[in-house]
Amino acid sequence: MHRFLDLADFSRDDIVALLELARRLETHPEPRALAGRILGLVFFNPSLRTLASFQAGMARLGGSSFVITPGQGTWQLETRLGAIMDGAAAEHVREGLPVLASYCDALGIRAFAEGRDLAADLAETRFAAMAEVIDKPLLNLESAMNHPCQALADWKTMDDLAVPQHGKFVLSWVSHPRALPLAVPAAAVHMAAMRGMEVVVLRPEGYALPPAIIAKARAAADAAGGSVRETSERDDALAGAHVLYAKEWGSTTHYGDAEGDAKLRAKLADWCVTPDWFGRADPACRFMHCLPVRRNVAVTDAVLDGPRSIVQREAYNRMTAQMAVLHRMLS
Ligand code: CP
Repeated sequence: MHRFLDLADFSRDDIVALLELARRLETHPEPRALAGRILGLVFFNPSLRTLASFQAGMARLGGSSFVITPGQGTWQLETRLGAIMDGAAAEHVREGLPVLASYCDALGIRAFAEGRDLAADLAETRFAAMAEVIDKPLLNLESAMNHPCQALADWKTMDDLAVPQHGKFVLSWVSHPRALPLAVPAAAVHMAAMRGMEVVVLRPEGYALPPAIIAKARAAADAAGGSVRETSERDDALAGAHVLYAKEWGSTTHYGDAEGDAKLRAKLADWCVTPDWFGRADPACRFMHCLPVRRNVAVTDAVLDGPRSIVQREAYNRMTAQMAVLHRMLS
């Protein structure tokens, strides 16, 4: 494996094999598998889980890692192609990233959507420009429209807890004070579709996922025997659900327009998951969220602390799933 950028770059069988490897490494640890190997991690945006789980996973396999947060103790890096660099950034990624890649055996990059131009973010122009200058194995630690590490961990979490392969997976928009990127919702619907699930995207008007994201998920669903649809009807969406996956994202009809988005979301405070959302769901319905999450804005304490919540297991599985990726990439 040379690159881990998108689950769609792999077959379903590849992903199933990767998850088997993750389980094997859990039961039969290999503390020397990556001895002498070095992972570089570049974070243009903050993180708790991704940063810590990659460092811990690398250490558990006998390797080591370094972390760069551009502009915090290191030079600020310019990412725009053709920029006149007379501002704060002292160095361009076209020099900085190959330098970092030369020090390590694989590089991971987190660079969120810029949130101004939906077409540019959908095309992953910023991440692609950086990937182009790196000649080492590369990991996507969350880009504009993808979070494959989160998706892999979520798939493993559902397998661990015996969520039916063709069960009903409801991705629901939930409230947040501001517009967040589309990376996790896009990755989650694609992952669940690839797993073969009945995927329902529940969202208020103005928050429909872009057609390209839905089309990609539908193609995965067609291949795996699943389905994908969108609705704004909560009762219909949640009837018989095996998973309620909550996520916050920005309005797609007001993309890049913070004021327009804010006006729309001001009326949507009731999109906070409470126990009664599960009234018509399957009795064993699980609550998922990638974290971080705002308590009593996106989800109530009662749900997050209740028996349906599997958010801690998702976060733990960031490490186990990524260890399999690192093992496949570097051993
Ligand atoms: N879910 C996730 O990627 O968490 P962090 O932003 O803390 O890495």
